[in-house]
Amino acid sequence: MALTVKQQLFLAILVLAVPFSAISGDPDIISDFVVPPGTNATLLDGNFFTYTGMRPLVDSDPPTNFTVTKATMAEFPALNGQSVSYAVLQYPAGSVNPPHTHPRATELLFLTYGTLEVGFVDTTNKLFTQSLQAGDIFVFPKGLVHYQFNSAENDFAIAVSAFGSAAAGTVSVPSTVLGTGIDDVVLAKSFKTDVDTIQKLKAGFPHMA
Ligand SMILES: *[C@@H]1O[C@H](CO)[C@@H](O)[C@H](O)[C@H]1NC(C)=O
Ligand SMILES: *[C@@H]1O[C@H](CO)[C@@H](O)[C@H](O)[C@H]1NC(C)=O
Repeated sequence: MALTVKQQLFLAILVLAVPFSAISGDPDIISDFVVPPGTNATLLDGNFFTYTGMRPLVDSDPPTNFTVTKATMAEFPALNGQSVSYAVLQYPAGSVNPPHTHPRATELLFLTYGTLEVGFVDTTNKLFTQSLQAGDIFVFPKGLVHYQFNSAENDFAIAVSAFGSAAAGTVSVPSTVLGTGIDDVVLAKSFKTDVDTIQKLKAGFPHMA
C-alpha cells in the first residue's frame, strides 16, 4: 500500500520525535528566561531569580513527621524553562518517604545530615539499595520507583534533592494505588489477595478525589 506524502511526513516526524523525547528534559526555551504572563519585563530584577521560601527551615526545629519542602516552578516561577528544581527532605527518626516516582526527572539526593537507607527498582525489577552517611550523594534514575528510610532510633536526617526538571512531578505508589478509587476487585486480583485485605489497606488512604 503506497503512503501519501502526508502519511510519509507523519511517519518521519514520529521516527524523529521518539528518540528526542526519550532523551530530553524539559522543553528548551528560545529566550534567556521566561517572563510570567502579565509581568512587565523591564521591572524584573534579582528578586525574580531569588527564592526565599527555604529560609524558615534554617533555624526551625526538626519536624515530627517526614516533610518535603519544594522549590519547583510552582513555588519559584523563575525556574520555568530552566530544567532544574530542588526539594529539602527532613526525616525524623524512623520515618519513611514511601515508594514513589518522578515521571519527568532524575533525582540527585545529597544527604547533609544523619544517615539514610535508600533504594530504587529498575525496569527488570532489580532492587538497588544503599546506606548513606552525611556527605554522600545518590542518584535515582528518571521515572524509577524509589524510597528513603531513616532507620536511626534517635536522630533525624536532612537531604537536599536536585531534579532535572522544573516540574518533576511525584507519583506516590501507595496513595496512587489505594487512595484513588480503583475498584477493590481489580486490586484484589492485581495483588493476588481478597477484597477484605484490599479494604483494610485502603482504610489508611482516604479517597481524595
Ligand atoms: C514597563 O515599565 C516601564 C518602567 O516603569 C514603563 O516605562 C513601561 O511603560 C512599562 N510597560 C508596560 C507595557 O506597561
Ligand atoms: C506533620 O508535622 C507537622 C508539624 O511538624 C504538622 O503540622 C502536620 O500536621 C503533620 N502531619 C501529619 C500527617 O501528621
